[in-house]
Formats: sequence, structure tokens, C-alpha cells
Amino acid sequence: MPNLLQLEGPQRGVLRITLHRPEALNALNTALLGELAEVLASADRDDAIRAVVLTGSRRAFAAGADINEMAERDLVGMLDDPRQRHWAAIARFSKPIVAAINGFTLGGGCELAMHADIRIAGEDAKFGQPEINLGIMPGAGGTQRLVRAVGQALATQMVLTGEPISARRALEAGLISEITQPELTVERATAIAERIAEKAPLAVRLAKEALHKALDTDLATGLRFERHAFTVLAGTADREEGIKAFQEKRRAQFTGR
Ligand code: CAA
Repeated sequence: MPNLLQLEGPQRGVLRITLHRPEALNALNTALLGELAEVLASADRDDAIRAVVLTGSRRAFAAGADINEMAERDLVGMLDDPRQRHWAAIARFSKPIVAAINGFTLGGGCELAMHADIRIAGEDAKFGQPEINLGIMPGAGGTQRLVRAVGQALATQMVLTGEPISARRALEAGLISEITQPELTVERATAIAERIAEKAPLAVRLAKEALHKALDTDLATGLRFERHAFTVLAGTADREEGIKAFQEKRRAQFTGR
């Protein structure tokens, strides 16, 4: 298997995944997406991993789908594209992903960033959906997740003009939650992931699922899901431990049960 990802950890419950295709600004080809889907599937099964930090290089988080590879696929090839399976697998990951973003975050790169649960970006990051310049449009959630992240007006401007926005603008619009100096993004994202990794895993997992529901259901359905998830957690040992630790004024020791 080609080595398009660098893996570090898990340390303190956090697995760090670094996209590593420097010659193509981390353009997302089938092999890279496949590796990522596989690593996340195995991280999902590994109790030692409670959160993931996903990052790229200083120059690019990812500059989009691999255009040269895409050029080889015609309409029928696109219908059969294995990358769709990989994207779906990435979206299914049940643990939190914190993205540490620098540089070009374009097209599929921006779409990948939007698969993360929390996004921290360096001051020089650039976010965009430039597919329109290629005579195509976003195909991995760029029209749907971007509208939900930044609102209809800015998403429409970005998708139809193809022009990128700065990290500052992305922060104002709600696409990212924090800006750091570029050299500190990974450190900050790791600190956030480590904080999450200390929490009760089942509570984190259900909270992530409920937060996702907020984006794809009506309010009444979302509230019902939240109530059910909240109720399910009442049956966990970690809830008992969390409440007991509070009452005994000590730090909770969560076990994931
Ligand atoms: N696919 C394949 N190769 C890419 C790439 C991509 N998306 N982006 C960059 N590269 C390659 C370049 O071809 C170049 O390779 P060579 O050195 O072999 O020529 C190398 O990475 C470095 O790139 P540049 O020389 O172009 O670097 P730059 O600093 O001058 O420009 C850039 C950087 C503005 C990001 C420019 O590379 C660019 O515009 N890239 C394409 C961005 C894009 O259109 N992304 C959307 C792709 S479509 C998509 O993502 C569909 C989807 O929704 C799933």
C-alpha cells in the first residue's frame, strides 16, 4: 500500500494523521482517500484511540481531488468511482476529528476539512471550492456542508466564483472555530483532541451523532434523537462514575462502559 498518510500515536488517546503527498499539495487521489478510510475504520475499532487530529502540510491541507486522476474518469467511471465509498467511510467515523489546517484547503480539501468535527486553522489558510474553474462543481459535500457551515450567501459566492476566502473570513463565517499562528495549529488541535479524549467515550460518540443530526433533520426529530441518546447514557457506568466523581470532588476515571 502506498504511504500517503503519516500516523503518530495514539498518545493520550489521540491518533495524529498527516496527509503526505507533498508533490501534489496533498491532492486527494483514490489511494489516499482509501488509506484514510481504512485507517479511520481501524481507529474506530481501537479503544485506545478516542479522538483524531487530521492535518496536512504548512503549504496545503489538501488542494482538492486529484485533477489528473479525475480526468481519466468519464461519466460511467464517475458513477462507479470508488472514492465515493471512501468518502462515505470517512463520514461514518464515530469518534471526533479535529482538523489542524494550514495553506491551501480547496475543493475536496475543503470538503475533507468539513468532515472534521472541529477545525483549527493557521492565519495563512485559504478555503475555497474552485471546482467551477474546471467546468465542474463540488462533489463531496461542498454545496451541502458549506451552506450549513457558512450560510447560503457566502457558500453560493464561494462555489459560483471559485474564489477562496481567508482564515479570518472563515472564522467570522463559522467554518473554523479558532485561528492560530500557522506553526501552532497541530499543537492546538492536539490539545483540544486530548481534552476530548479524557471524556467518557460513549457520551462523546452520542454527542457527536446528535450534533450531526442537527444538520440533517428537522428540530423535532433532532430533539427526539437527543433525548433518546441522553436517556441511553443513563445506563452507562461512566455516567455513574462522572456523577460520583463530581460528588466526591475528584477527577472521573472513565472506562467507556
Ligand atoms: N490535483 C492534482 N495535482 C495538483 C492539484 C490537484 N488538485 N493541486 C496541485 N497539484 C499539483 C500541481 O499540478 C503541481 O504539480 P507539478 O509540480 O507536477 O506541476 C504541484 O501540485 C504544485 O502545485 P502548483 O505548482 O500549482 O502550486 P502553486 O502554489 O502555483 O498553486 C494552487 C497552488 C493554487 C493550489 C494550484 O495548485 C491549484 O489551483 N490547484 C488546483 C486546485 C483545485 O482546482 N482544486 C479542486 C479540484 S476538483 C475537486 O476537488 C472535486 C471535488 O469536489 C471532490
